[in-house]
Amino acid sequence: MSKKNKDVFSTVDSLNRRKFIFTSGTALVSFTLLGGNAFSALPKLKKKSKYKVGFAQTESNNPWRLAQTKSMKDTAAEYGWDLVYTDAAGSAAKQVSDVRSMIAQRVDVILLAPREEKPLAVAVKEAKRANIPVFLIDRNVDQKLAKAGEDYVAFVGSDFVKEGRICGEVCAKVMNGNAKIIELQGTTGSSPAIDRGKGFAEAISSFPNMNIVASQSGDFARDKGRQVFETLYQSHPEADLVYSHNDEMTMGAIAALEAAGKVPGKDVMLASIDGTADAAKAVMAGKVIVCVECSPKFGPKAFELIKKLANGENIPTNVGNIDRVFTKDNPKWIRDKYGELAMTAKDYLPEAF
Ligand code: AHR
Repeated sequence: MSKKNKDVFSTVDSLNRRKFIFTSGTALVSFTLLGGNAFSALPKLKKKSKYKVGFAQTESNNPWRLAQTKSMKDTAAEYGWDLVYTDAAGSAAKQVSDVRSMIAQRVDVILLAPREEKPLAVAVKEAKRANIPVFLIDRNVDQKLAKAGEDYVAFVGSDFVKEGRICGEVCAKVMNGNAKIIELQGTTGSSPAIDRGKGFAEAISSFPNMNIVASQSGDFARDKGRQVFETLYQSHPEADLVYSHNDEMTMGAIAALEAAGKVPGKDVMLASIDGTADAAKAVMAGKVIVCVECSPKFGPKAFELIKKLANGENIPTNVGNIDRVFTKDNPKWIRDKYGELAMTAKDYLPEAF
């Protein structure tokens, strides 16, 4: 190559290099300004004999939440680790500040049950910036805003879409593909409400006569569920099936139906999710046709994962729960379809919460 050509190439090369440095610098500045931190690795956890674990609960207004908190507290006591426990009392804003207070207290790791998908993504990112590993317990955050394996270690919990789908499949079978449905949704913007709605809709989509006539949030609470159902049923007395995103709202709907002189399980069928003792009893009494499990007993699994993280073991970004399907008689078609997962409510009752 002639000297002239060499000079031309090195000028182009240096221009390209400058362009590259400028472009990536600009991208980094804009990324940092937007609050991104996807380029940095997940926080690590030092090996210690004892940890200070933060558990940020969403609320304590139902047996599921109480059982979840008990499981965390019992496991912390068993391990002899400190538990910093907060209760957001049904407010996503409070839960964000609860996580901030855990960061300020320098907990070693945060177990977060995000009340709603979007607002809590912010708290997840703040914990990462403070170098504190986070596990999302039972509920997830919006994957467009924060991701498992990048912003938090893993999501630990049930497949909510599958839970909704199983309810839809059993309902379509029992109702012979023909039903006018009232849907009681969970907390608006929460991952179980979004996904349980989606799974059920998917399952009934191939049955043109399975129609949702009304759908509204009962906020996963018994009394709210009762009030919402009462109003919806007054406007839709033709409804013959209730699909509820959790057992507490199902119990509310049963109370409203009985107060209206209707027989649950006869005049109106009900399908539910969680597996509380009250719901299992309602299945045995023939009031509820199906209840899909969503276990709240996260303590042992969550603490085991903390140990794995400290040991530097590989942790999958989704640590799933296996949900069982409770019916009264466990007919053959249920066993054929769900195999090992199919269980009678009576057999489940000794361990129900
Ligand atoms: O996130 C799980 C759901 O939240 C449970 O179904 C419900 O009971 C709880 O409040």
